[in-house]
Amino acid sequence: MKALEVKNLSAFYGKIQVLWDVSFEVEEGEFVTIIGANGAGKTTLLKSISGLISNKKGTVTAFGKSIEQLSAAKIVRSHIGHVPEGRQLFHLMTVLENLESGADYLPHAKREAAKTKAYVYSLFPRLKEREKQLAGTLSGGERQMLAIGRALMTKPKLLLVDEPSLGLAPALTKTVFQALKTINQEGVTIVLVEQNVLQSLKAAQRAYVLENGEVVKSAEASSLLNDPEIQAAYLAI
Ligand SMILES: Nc1ncnc2c1ncn2[C@@H]1O[C@H](COP(=O)(O)OP(=O)(O)O)[C@@H](O)[C@H]1O
Ligand SMILES: [Mg+2]
Repeated sequence: MKALEVKNLSAFYGKIQVLWDVSFEVEEGEFVTIIGANGAGKTTLLKSISGLISNKKGTVTAFGKSIEQLSAAKIVRSHIGHVPEGRQLFHLMTVLENLESGADYLPHAKREAAKTKAYVYSLFPRLKEREKQLAGTLSGGERQMLAIGRALMTKPKLLLVDEPSLGLAPALTKTVFQALKTINQEGVTIVLVEQNVLQSLKAAQRAYVLENGEVVKSAEASSLLNDPEIQAAYLAI
């Protein structure tokens, strides 16, 4: 089954259109990246899928169910997790409280919260060490781990991840991307949107290129790494 099928999605801020007939699909179990420059529309695309933007046209189907009319609250109940750009943590709450907030209002996630928390801590031992620390006092890398952990607490089958490398040193970016690969290998479908084209293409199986709100290319991630146009535009080779 397809985890996600987006067809002719357009999105608007007021009268300004920023996505133009975007179509792409993701098989269950895949790790797909959507790469694009700053302002290409990556965040808008993920927000449109997870119900945070309602001014849109087109269809979004997740695990065979049409979701484009659903609220964000219902979409998260359809097993779609979103790791937002900029992490959006509760800074005055502890690491543990931030994690627990992920399972709030989600009975299926709440039932398994202890188990999922243990899994998140096995993935990111740093979070366990800092369980009682306020999120606002964490380093950038730890915040990103926490944002991913909180999304995992919703028990997603599909995880949408927005620019996790933002502001991170290269070594930390690698740690975070490696964690995403592990999460994917354990059965969660991943859609990663990124400006960090090199690392994203290394982590993902397939890729789409978003330019000025339009999909202009799609291919195996490894073949895009060797694509002269991609190298010139995004990899500075
Ligand atoms: N809240 C907003 N109101 C108006 N325009 C916006 C808003 N958010 C983003 N945009 C515009 O939409 C376009 C796409 O932005 P965004 O989805 O954030 O791109 P990306 O995540 O790829 O950097 C940009 O031109 C941006 O200026
Ligand atoms: Mg963005």
